Amino acid sequence: MVTNLLRAIPDSRLQRIAAPCGVVLFGITGDLSKRKILPALYDLAHRGLLPPSFSIVGVARQPRPDLPEVIEEAIREGAKSEVNETTLSQLMSGLRIVAGQYTEDCTYEDLRSTLAELDETRGTSGNFAFYLAIPPELFPTVLGGLGRAGLHNGGDHSWRRVVIEKPFGSDAASAKKLDEVVTSVFDPSAVFRIDHYLGKETVQNLLALRFANELFEPVWNSNHVDHVQITMAEDIGIGSRAGYYDGIGAARDIIQNHLLQLLALTAMEEPTSFSAEALRIEKEKVLEATHFFGSVSESAVRAQYESGWQGGQWVRAYREEEGIPASSTTDTYAALRLGIETRRWSGVPFYLRAGKRLGRRVSEIAIVFKYPPFLPFSSTDGLGHNTLVIHVQPNEGMTFTFGSKVPGAVMNLRDTTMDFSYGHAFTEYSPEAYERLILDVLLGEPPLFPQAREIELSWNILDKAEAAWESSPETLATYAPGTWGPQAADEMLARDGRTWRRP
Ligand code: BG6
Repeated sequence: MVTNLLRAIPDSRLQRIAAPCGVVLFGITGDLSKRKILPALYDLAHRGLLPPSFSIVGVARQPRPDLPEVIEEAIREGAKSEVNETTLSQLMSGLRIVAGQYTEDCTYEDLRSTLAELDETRGTSGNFAFYLAIPPELFPTVLGGLGRAGLHNGGDHSWRRVVIEKPFGSDAASAKKLDEVVTSVFDPSAVFRIDHYLGKETVQNLLALRFANELFEPVWNSNHVDHVQITMAEDIGIGSRAGYYDGIGAARDIIQNHLLQLLALTAMEEPTSFSAEALRIEKEKVLEATHFFGSVSESAVRAQYESGWQGGQWVRAYREEEGIPASSTTDTYAALRLGIETRRWSGVPFYLRAGKRLGRRVSEIAIVFKYPPFLPFSSTDGLGHNTLVIHVQPNEGMTFTFGSKVPGAVMNLRDTTMDFSYGHAFTEYSPEAYERLILDVLLGEPPLFPQAREIELSWNILDKAEAAWESSPETLATYAPGTWGPQAADEMLARDGRTWRRP
């Protein structure tokens, strides 16, 4: 009999429509709200997954009479679905704005009256998710205000949840402190920490690939895998995000969260179900067993982009970007060489890299297999490593590279590929990560949200690299825009007799 883990998913998930509720959006005028959250809310409404009563309360520090137009514009620009005027006006009819300082109790009193009015007029039933799309330094202020006003508690028949955007602290100690602040107000089960990579279809498909198939799991270990490369590359610079990015950098912005989550999902053992608890247990075990391969200084590289030509355009160096101090030592590229001390993975390096202004925008996980123990061919020149690449984005799918005989009278070998593409294999709508995750919040389903301990363990890993970098500032390398990073990162792999993939 086939035991199917997917059966552990409750039937209600097949009917994934949110019950009466609303979202209170702190930072409604911010970049993230405009680019991701508001369009995702529209897309959910468009697909009929939000209740008719659904309401959005925007909390803004400055009163802005044009806010409804700004929101509509953001939706029109960012929505994945074609905008339907009836759906849009239904959504906008549930929009309320509370203007006030986050530090003042009267803001939260106004918010309380607004929520009561929505319960009365639209039937939101007291169910609200507070979404903190604001700079992290404001988290304690807003959480304190919500707590003092008692808004974290909706009573016996309603729910209240809080959604926190990364970064969750800037190191293990601050993440722990932040967690104490959050859980001093909200029950831990009501806290949803967003790592939007976990909302991506291709990332969830890792679980299907590994645990729904017989083919991969037997070779998914150090007997067969030579090494793993996890890449998150962007061709853009930091744009207008200087305020957020400087002092944070690529390692804290991407590796601590997105890439270590990808590593955990790639390396973890089979969970007993796909419940949040079962996934947490397996991911934590991996993160706890993850360490630097060799010394930290030999296994961690960071760099900053220089000025230069990229895609036919002259682009500025990081230190010349608007709002960035000329002396900034923030990394815009980081690469780590990690190992996992478990029976399955001991001895297999996991190379992680993330950066801005690289060759192109691509996120992928490449499982590079060992050569067979014996090759009975007179020439194997055209033969590379069998490699399974999970294309997280763009061109979502998978490619398997393997050796084949070149047609002809002699036994010549060459690498060939087998491709799986979401676009060709499925006609179903593929939701944006934010759509999926916001719906999960409204349904109260936490499996795709990292838990506090995972975040702390990820920081424990990264803190070691950050400490090594801080103690040797001269290790900050540079790279030209449009390339694949600094020479030091190539050298790190070359010392192991390996090279980075060119995605
Ligand atoms: C965010 C980072 O988490 O992910 C950004 O803060 C980055 O710096 C973004 O640009 C990339 O997301 P995606 O989904 O486009 O890979």
